Amino acid sequence: MLYNIVVTVVILYLTVQGLNGDGLWKGRCGNQGEPTTKIMGGSHAYMGEWPWMVRLLSCSDGHCYGCGGSLISDQWVLTAAHCVDQCERIYASLGEHNREDSGNNEVHLSIIENIVHKDYNNKSLANDIALLRLSESLDLSGSHNHLEPICLDSSKIRVNTTCVATGWGRTELTDSHSILQKVELPIADDGLCVNKWGGQYQASNQVCAGIPNNNKDTCHGDSGGPLACKLYTGPWMLNGITSYGSTQQGAKCIAPPSVYTRVSAYLPWIKEIMIEKIKESRFGNAIANRHVW
Ligand SMILES: *[C@@H]1O[C@H](CO)[C@@H](O)[C@H](O)[C@H]1NC(C)=O
Ligand SMILES: *[C@@H]1O[C@H](CO)[C@@H](O)[C@H](O)[C@H]1NC(C)=O
Repeated sequence: MLYNIVVTVVILYLTVQGLNGDGLWKGRCGNQGEPTTKIMGGSHAYMGEWPWMVRLLSCSDGHCYGCGGSLISDQWVLTAAHCVDQCERIYASLGEHNREDSGNNEVHLSIIENIVHKDYNNKSLANDIALLRLSESLDLSGSHNHLEPICLDSSKIRVNTTCVATGWGRTELTDSHSILQKVELPIADDGLCVNKWGGQYQASNQVCAGIPNNNKDTCHGDSGGPLACKLYTGPWMLNGITSYGSTQQGAKCIAPPSVYTRVSAYLPWIKEIMIEKIKESRFGNAIANRHVW
């Protein structure tokens, strides 16, 4: 009985926080903004097309590098562990389109918690996933309504589904782009990644995406960003986190497929942290630095 009351109270509290009883975000998710300033040609995104896209700057010893991330609730961002494992400070910008020009829709926040998966391996890149907590909760139905979390897919994405990776990383044409880029990548058969990486590729925890020899791929600087998939008229779902890929030819990445962390395999991990952290913040003992979970 007491247990039931405690559970009910926790669930009620989570509901108030925009999360459902299993810890995940239950608000609106996965809808794109209306195309406003559509730029033709190339693979430029239009402003507001990927409202969950986060640009991360990971810094240590005065040196910073860029990565991508995905907004999954009003205060959590999912990214790759290799983006944030060895850094002292992390900054997030949301609503960013052109990284050389600070548009008035941008929201700049710091990261107050960096939770790296406890089984992340910095050599094999197994379990390349981290959860980051923003320094404040976003007001997604008010002043931040141009931002929207992406939904999390609980089922295994099918081969040949066309998904989209987004990022500010290198492309075939330039070293990096100031405008957010998008590239369509179909989910590939696991066998293609097994052929390429052998046992390093773990089909249960990783997704293989991209078509061999077509030059469409993710590259440096895209790490941590979303591989988002949409089925029919449903919302966009986060299926992968850009992890590692291509054989390098010069500085270019032109050897798809690449490997993405399989988000559906980590839902229990994500839920557990979100529930635990909300209980913690209610009692005011959030820890503000890097730890493993
Ligand atoms: C990789 O991980 C090992 C074991 O956790 C650690 O000792 C080492 O410093 C890490 N190296 C890098 C470059 O992050
Ligand atoms: C994926 O598409 C390829 C090429 O069209 C086809 O040969 C293959 O059978 C498809 N695989 C699945 C699982 O649908």
